[in-house]
Amino acid sequence: MLHLMTPTTSLAASMNKTIPSDFSRLAAQLNTPIVIGGKTIPNRLWLAPMAGLTHSAFRKVLGHYGSCGLAFTEMCNAKAVPTENPRVSPVFSWQECELPGLVCQLVGGTAEELVIAAKRVEREGFFGVDINMGCSARGMIKREAGAALLKTPEKAVSMVEAVRKAVSIPVFVKFRTGWSRDIAPAVALARELEAVGVDCLVFHPRVAPDKRTRPPIIDHIRSIKEAVSIPVFGNGNVTTPQHCQDMLDSTGCDGVSVGRMAVARPWLFAQWTTGCAPDENVFQEYVLRMADALEQDFDPIRGIKRFHLFMVYFAANFRFGHSLQAVFSTAKTMDDVRRLAKEHISPGMPLSISPNMNLYNF
Ligand SMILES: Cc1cc2nc3c(=O)[nH]c(=O)nc-3n(C[C@H](O)[C@H](O)[C@H](O)COP(=O)(O)O)c2cc1C
Repeated sequence: MLHLMTPTTSLAASMNKTIPSDFSRLAAQLNTPIVIGGKTIPNRLWLAPMAGLTHSAFRKVLGHYGSCGLAFTEMCNAKAVPTENPRVSPVFSWQECELPGLVCQLVGGTAEELVIAAKRVEREGFFGVDINMGCSARGMIKREAGAALLKTPEKAVSMVEAVRKAVSIPVFVKFRTGWSRDIAPAVALARELEAVGVDCLVFHPRVAPDKRTRPPIIDHIRSIKEAVSIPVFGNGNVTTPQHCQDMLDSTGCDGVSVGRMAVARPWLFAQWTTGCAPDENVFQEYVLRMADALEQDFDPIRGIKRFHLFMVYFAANFRFGHSLQAVFSTAKTMDDVRRLAKEHISPGMPLSISPNMNLYNF
């Protein structure tokens, strides 16, 4: 069960409390390498794809803290990918050094567009390609892409089969339960995806139109895991090492994909897999690193827009997250961000052990 309460604590106490007294079992489990499509990944704690959040700048900062087994780009439009210029694209861009541990997520509504895009993803040297079957934004549904594919499983499977035949890199599918709470269609889809050669499933057990306000049905991850023999990663509302352990134990899933909490605290990958505790000034340092990385990778307007989205999840760390977000909402430039970070983020700030749900479920 997830804690919706937000008890407060000091930063130092929180650092200790977020690590269970015996995290060695979790660390051992997470640090067991896994082979996906013939390629070995060093650990089983991955970064989930998130539009506007898992861009190249965030991944640079993530790389600084280390220990993320596999990272996913934000969703890239399959129609645009074949002609994208990584030097100027806000989504289809990366650092050469991250490619061995980076999967490009594609969203598309036809086999043809996905195949052409997946071939480019392979040529560029990504670890693998991931097909999005979870996004229920209106534009995606209109294009019959993302979560719309869960309404037409035959089409979804034939599109993925076409991608599978077109590339030799690992193929992932990230999907949700479907458009009703019945898990049977998702189980049937998982089996068919395995049959056409998908290498790994990442499952987020929520219905498609749910914007993360209702809790995920974690037990449904077990239903997917038991239906197939390819690796299944669980995802949804994992914010503490205990949630991670519970998901692994109760579902038998092969690993865990973390979304929002990874933006709130990107050092969690190192913390949960090695037990190392971050420096108590880590929050301020993190914001300063983000400001630098956003400035390097984006023009000023795009950079500050991404900063404000990032700040929602960062602020969820704190008991008075709304006030912190309000303070940073005045930032118009990265210099403003740096000044505000130095003035308003300090080790003494009261933290929420579980993220502030009003912000986190934004
Ligand atoms: C702002 C935001 C953008 C997201 N964009 C994507 C996306 O592009 N592709 C995708 O598969 N999932 C996307 N997701 C869903 C996440 O990958 C993940 O499934 C969800 O946040 C639940 O995991 P969490 O509780 O660990 O955050 C997004 C989530 C958020 C909060």
